Amino acid sequence: MESDRIKWNRRFGSEDSYLGERPSPFLLQEIGRIRQLAPGRRALDIACGEGRNSVFLAQHGFGVTALDISDTGLARGRRRAEEAGVDVDFQQIDLEGFNISGQYDLVINFNFLLRDLIPAEVQALSPGGILVFDTIRESEALLASHNPAYLLGTGELRRIFEEFSGDILLYEEVNAGEMPTARLLFRMAFP
Ligand SMILES: C[S@@+](CC[C@H](N)C(=O)[O-])C[C@H]1O[C@@H](n2cnc3c(N)ncnc32)[C@H](O)[C@@H]1O
Repeated sequence: MESDRIKWNRRFGSEDSYLGERPSPFLLQEIGRIRQLAPGRRALDIACGEGRNSVFLAQHGFGVTALDISDTGLARGRRRAEEAGVDVDFQQIDLEGFNISGQYDLVINFNFLLRDLIPAEVQALSPGGILVFDTIRESEALLASHNPAYLLGTGELRRIFEEFSGDILLYEEVNAGEMPTARLLFRMAFP
């Protein structure tokens, strides 16, 4: 939606780095296992923002396609990739109603929730492909200030992925600080 693009351009434009330059701690924690299990090196970063995770994956040998609606975030991602000396295919896409084409050995979804897109993210996985998900869960404090549509319910992420053909390798709900999250590592079934 155009309003998302405007909102996120403003957020990214107001700070040097909105979510920092380092990769997400969960991705950092799991990168060894991901590299071991992913059947190949094609990766898709859903709502990549300023590209901190896209650049990190490219540095670990993945060929990364990174999608986001914010041209300000994407411009910063392109600059970061250039500074790091890696190639990332950053694309400006509105993910609402978007059809993911192609197959990926790794799909990551950090700090973004579009429930309707999740089945397409799973479908985009190659056999044995890995999906990493980490986003905010609802809490009383967050519900006062956030749109509930963007917050996961307790146990919700696990329930969603239990419906898909594959294995949940890790699921945890983390309560650190003011931003409770749910994290998951899913592996697509082999035919
Ligand atoms: C909290 S940021 C997360 C960025 C990144 N995943 C990370 O963890 O560093 C949420 C991102 O979702 C993107 N976004 C919001 N609505 C979108 C939409 N409809 N289509 C594509 N991207 C969208 C925003 O532009 C923003 O970059």
